[in-house]
Amino acid sequence: MRVFLTGATGFIGSAIVPELINAGHSVLGLSRSDAGAEALIAAGADVQRGSLEDLDSLRSGAAASDGVIHCAFNHDFSNFVANCELDTRAIEALGSALAGSDRPLVITSGTGLGNSAPGQPASEDHFDPNHPNPRKSSELAGIAAAARGVNVSVVRLPQVHDPVKQGLISYLVPVAREKGVVAYVGDGLNRWPAVHVLDAARLYRLALEKAMPGSRYNAVAEEGVSMREIAEALGRGLKIPVVSKSGDEVAEYFGWLAMFAGWDMPASSALTQQRLNWHPTGPGLIADLDRMQY
Ligand SMILES: NC(=O)c1ccc[n+]([C@@H]2O[C@H](COP(=O)([O-])OP(=O)(O)OC[C@H]3O[C@@H](n4cnc5c(N)ncnc54)[C@H](OP(=O)(O)O)[C@@H]3O)[C@@H](O)[C@H]2O)c1
Repeated sequence: MRVFLTGATGFIGSAIVPELINAGHSVLGLSRSDAGAEALIAAGADVQRGSLEDLDSLRSGAAASDGVIHCAFNHDFSNFVANCELDTRAIEALGSALAGSDRPLVITSGTGLGNSAPGQPASEDHFDPNHPNPRKSSELAGIAAAARGVNVSVVRLPQVHDPVKQGLISYLVPVAREKGVVAYVGDGLNRWPAVHVLDAARLYRLALEKAMPGSRYNAVAEEGVSMREIAEALGRGLKIPVVSKSGDEVAEYFGWLAMFAGWDMPASSALTQQRLNWHPTGPGLIADLDRMQY
């Protein structure tokens, strides 16, 4: 397949490029910069210049392809709601170029959107349209595109890691450096699921190739790593104390991350493993945190 990949220059997208090429596909990667375009060419991809704001660039990339993987997202969390809305418009534009064909559109969401009851692992089959996380708008845009005849599937991601980047945990490191302590909330037993970036990339390829309309996949290798274990790994790496925060201290310490820091959001990938014969093999989250250069 010729695959249009948005976010091709990002952490996960740059792992998806070789995953697709090594499996015999060709890649048309979206880039909004000269540096990104050069990196894509060096990786063996073709370049679609454009951006999430330039919806025509998204439509032309999708129109020129046999399938689309959408990984671009603006991670300025101070404008998270607006950036979720930008994602909605991008999914609408990509879908409009594919509607009425069976060419697949694989979009991205978070595993947290599948949590149904406290303590229960998120499942692929659950989606709460009233979930407090504004990122639900990406899945709602996917559902709307499916209703217009687009072959949409969703890859839900947990904390995606290697020894350099680890999802939201990467944002905790500068906070901990600045405050001189690493914090967790309460008893720190709330859990975040995780996957190695190469396993996530393989799952995107399998989702694209399988092209099952309406499917949701959880890219989960570890169902839940406790925030206390994560904080202790960061404390070892940064060589600073690990402390508990509660009440008003949580927002004061975590800032915008307070919304996520205390959430218990375990997630299962049992159905994904079965449906796509996907079996994660990468190192675990704590192993990657222990290998990080602090
Ligand atoms: N990493 C995780 O642990 C994790 C967890 C849950 C969900 N996700 C989701 O997975 C997807 C990929 O994440 P990632 O970790 O690879 O993110 P990332 O490293 O921040 O990469 C983001 C990508 O989006 C592109 N991008 C950002 N704003 C753009 C814009 N306005 N127009 C065009 N391109 C734009 C970036 O291009 P430039 O190179 O030009 O900046 C880059 O290619 C996102 O949807 C993210 O929210 C990730």
